[in-house]
This record gives sequence, C-alpha cells and structure tokens, in this order.
Amino acid sequence: MTAKTIYVLNGPNLNLLGTREPDIYGHDTLDDIAARLAARGEELGVTIDMRQSNHEGHLVDWLHEARTVGAHAVLLNAGAYTHTSIALLDAIKAIGVPVIEVHLSDPEKREPFRHLSYVGMGAVQCVKGLGPDSYLVALEAAAAL
Ligand code: DQA
Repeated sequence: MTAKTIYVLNGPNLNLLGTREPDIYGHDTLDDIAARLAARGEELGVTIDMRQSNHEGHLVDWLHEARTVGAHAVLLNAGAYTHTSIALLDAIKAIGVPVIEVHLSDPEKREPFRHLSYVGMGAVQCVKGLGPDSYLVALEAAAAL
C-alpha cells in the first residue's frame, strides 16, 4: 500500500446511480464518480479504493479492513443504512480510522426519517448536498487529514 490509501465505501442502491431518481441523485453513475475520484486522487498523491455493496455486513467488513490495511481515511456513503445502522456506527468507532460521511443529496432537507444519521455520530465530518461533488470535496478533506 502507498503512503495514503483512501477507502470509498458505498451502500445500498448506489449501484443504480445514473438511473435511480435522477431528479434527486443526478445522471452520473458510480463509475463516473469513481473515475473522477481516481483522477483527483492521482493529483493528490493518494490511492482510491472504491467499492459498493447492498449488504450491511460487507460495509462493516470493509470498515474493519480499512483498519487492517492502515488506510488513511474512509469516505462512506452508507445510503439508507446511514439512518438505521448501529452496526456501522459501532464499526466506525472501533476502527480508529477517520470516516467522512458523504451524501449526494442533503438528507436533512428530505423526509424526517432521513434526518437521523448513525454514521454521523461516528464520522469526523459530513459532506452532503453537492451531488457527485460531495465525493470530491470529501476527498480533498480526507487527503488533508
Ligand atoms: C444518500 C441519502 C440517503 O438518505 C439515501 O438513502 C441514499 C443516498 C445520498 O447520497 O444522498 O441511498 O446517502
């Protein structure tokens, strides 16, 4: 692993970006976002390891792995698990790797059930509401940590 590897973990339904509720999430696919992150990561001298799963346990395992490999930081868009997952919060607290919460939309401006963020209770920062740029802004913040 290079000096700085940044994990970018994406949760449920984010594999459908591009066609999923484009009025909310835009037309970019997750691959488009990955390409932008990889390009910017190269400029910043960090390696991006980006993944997506619809399964909560995979996200927990990958958070643990971030600690095992000595990742510099994690960007985490946990999708709907943001609002439900104490398991993700516990994992974030357990790993000792800074986690930045990321959202394309601004959940606090949406339905009340999206206002609670378990991820946010453990994350060092949150970047939201900027569409795909949320990931890029979070990457800048993560690289600077
Ligand atoms: C989301 C916001 C969540 O409330 C939602 O469940 C998602 C996407 C976002 O990126 O805006 O799946 O995390």
